[in-house]
Amino acid sequence: MLRNDQLDQWDHDHFFHPSTHLAQFARGELKNRIVTGGEGVYINDREGNRLLDAFAGLYCVNIGYGRQEVADAIAAQAKELAYYHSYVGHGTEASVTLAKMVIDRAPENMSRVYFGLSGSDANETNVKLIWYYNNILGRPEKKKIISRWRGYHGSGLMTGSLTGLDLFHKKFDLPLSQVLHTEAPYYYRRADLSMSEADFVAHCASELEAMIEREGADTIAAFIGEPVLGTGGIVPPPAGYWEAIQTVLRKHDILLVADEVVTGFGRLGTMMGSNHYGIEPDIITIAKGLTSAYAPLSGSIISKKVWQVLEQGTDEFGAIGHGWTYSAHPIGAAAGVANLKLIDSLGLVANAGDTGAYFNKGMTDAVGKHKNVGDVRGEGMLCAVELVEDRDNRVFFDPARKVGPSVAAALLKRGVIARAMPQGDIIGFAPPLCLSREEADTIVSATADALKEVCG
Ligand SMILES: Cc1ncc(COP(=O)(O)O)c(C=O)c1O
Repeated sequence: MLRNDQLDQWDHDHFFHPSTHLAQFARGELKNRIVTGGEGVYINDREGNRLLDAFAGLYCVNIGYGRQEVADAIAAQAKELAYYHSYVGHGTEASVTLAKMVIDRAPENMSRVYFGLSGSDANETNVKLIWYYNNILGRPEKKKIISRWRGYHGSGLMTGSLTGLDLFHKKFDLPLSQVLHTEAPYYYRRADLSMSEADFVAHCASELEAMIEREGADTIAAFIGEPVLGTGGIVPPPAGYWEAIQTVLRKHDILLVADEVVTGFGRLGTMMGSNHYGIEPDIITIAKGLTSAYAPLSGSIISKKVWQVLEQGTDEFGAIGHGWTYSAHPIGAAAGVANLKLIDSLGLVANAGDTGAYFNKGMTDAVGKHKNVGDVRGEGMLCAVELVEDRDNRVFFDPARKVGPSVAAALLKRGVIARAMPQGDIIGFAPPLCLSREEADTIVSATADALKEVCG
């Protein structure tokens, strides 16, 4: 293809990049990157760079780039039927097939899938359905949603409120008043360093219970959490956390939403994160890994318990007033069917477990003892390296020094894309689930070199 020499200028002048420092971009302090292709775990850009994408886009290209099977499925669907809606009982072969495939992969007691387009809109759907549920049950006061500090659930009005990161609230007049945040299950950052992991879990559960009692259980509808904290720092929960939290929720008749946008479809080395941690959710949010981002598609998986009430509601009040034009879009659904088949046929769930464990061990061995590494943690094909000024006394770096972003930039110089997580000096890794051991070694040695360059 002929190179369009104006593209960078058009990008600079007209394209609004999400999650970007707009002024720095406009001043040219932040360089653009226009991505042109990809294969396996690598992407190419128009400057001719080939980069190992150790964050799978935004932890979503789980099957890796350039899979012909999914491209063919999308093309075939576009030719046969690019669109039909799913209102009033309509659907397409792809969307109905995908619903069956998702329920087959979900934990027990799941009943139906509502398909949206993004993780954000799926969580928006979840909150609406939870409010509807409690209205139908005659509990109009039971509406507040408890989320965790450092949770990430999207960047819409409600979902940005559920997200527990400052950047997503500041200057946007969020969070909305119906949302409360409780302690993050982040043992490494516990306030009281003398707490054991078990004490910390008990503390998280008792903080949650105290909040419920303070607000009144009859005002709390649901709790939402990611099985493993993602954008908040890639933090697997301390042992026993989910059991302790679920005990409190059941006692107070509070629904549980497992946000599996990152963990769904294999990332932890199990099909769903809920199976991994013994979570029994009432609703599950899915997106990213559902199509490996080959097309936009998300879902809300609804349990039998909630579904029953939704049915009852429509008998009382008529058709459910929720849906959008692109719900269950056939092209997204076709991509989802092909993607889930490929995850099975390539054994990617098992590879996420095996190669993920190899990768995490390699990272721990290579950098775990570095004077500025406070914590190396991970689960399946997720890994994080937390950087600190003084590891013995757990003194964090001043964020203004931007040590995390500097290490990510040094990694990029070595041809590896990692993510400087938005809150804290944390380098995040979430490679495609097809990562090989050799590719894992490449990421690990680049990280050790980058760390040496920045921190000595
Ligand atoms: C756990 C979780 N939930 C929800 C979302 C929001 O998804 P989206 O960006 O597709 O709106 C994300 C995105 O990273 C996520 O990690």
